[in-house]
Amino acid sequence: MKSIACCLVVVLSVSVVLICGESRQWGRRVSGDRLLNYAVVVNNSLPVPEKSSVYRYLPAAGAFRPPNITAIYARDNIPAGRGGYAGIVSGGVNQSNVTLKLTSQPYQRFNFTIEVYGK
Ligand SMILES: *[C@@H]1O[C@H](CO)[C@@H](O)[C@H](O)[C@H]1NC(C)=O
Ligand SMILES: *[C@@H]1O[C@H](CO)[C@@H](O)[C@H](O)[C@H]1NC(C)=O
Ligand SMILES: *[C@@H]1O[C@H](CO)[C@@H](O)[C@H](O)[C@H]1NC(C)=O
Ligand SMILES: *[C@@H]1O[C@H](CO)[C@@H](O)[C@H](O)[C@H]1NC(C)=O
Ligand SMILES: *[C@@H]1O[C@H](CO)[C@@H](O)[C@H](O)[C@H]1NC(C)=O
Repeated sequence: MKSIACCLVVVLSVSVVLICGESRQWGRRVSGDRLLNYAVVVNNSLPVPEKSSVYRYLPAAGAFRPPNITAIYARDNIPAGRGGYAGIVSGGVNQSNVTLKLTSQPYQRFNFTIEVYGK
């Protein structure tokens, strides 16, 4: 019984903890939240030593009560160690907006999938 429960937890976590090493997560999904924004951020620029991009989620202008962010996922789509690094610059969980900075390793490109959830 216990192992079945374990398996279930593993299966449920797969969408969260993808196998890639550099993926990051802030906060956690809660019941009733929804996907606020989804983006694939890629920087394939010609050999610049360090590539970076800024991703920003802002609530729709004039929203009466902007959703409160519950979880942010930055999933590195480039396998094991060759991808980039994601960090929060401002905003984040429990706020209405977030700005992430994505940075590559030297002379590597990056490809991140960003998901922002809130309720
Ligand atoms: C890729 O990174 C370079 C160096 O940081 C930057 O100048 C360029 O604007 C970035 N491209 C995109 C699409 O973000
Ligand atoms: C980025 O990664 C996604 C998921 O693996 C893939 O579908 C997409 O084609 C990639 N984009 C580029 C420009 O490599
Ligand atoms: C966000 O708010 C929840 C509920 O009050 C709290 O449990 C959680 O620690 C907060 N997270 C952050 C990153 O502030
Ligand atoms: C988001 O939720 C947290 C925890 O309940 C609360 O402290 C915070 O004020 C909320 N922020 C917004 C922008 O509603
Ligand atoms: C982001 O949200 C915070 C409060 O959660 C607010 O103080 C700040 O002005 C917002 N930033 C932007 C760029 O809207």
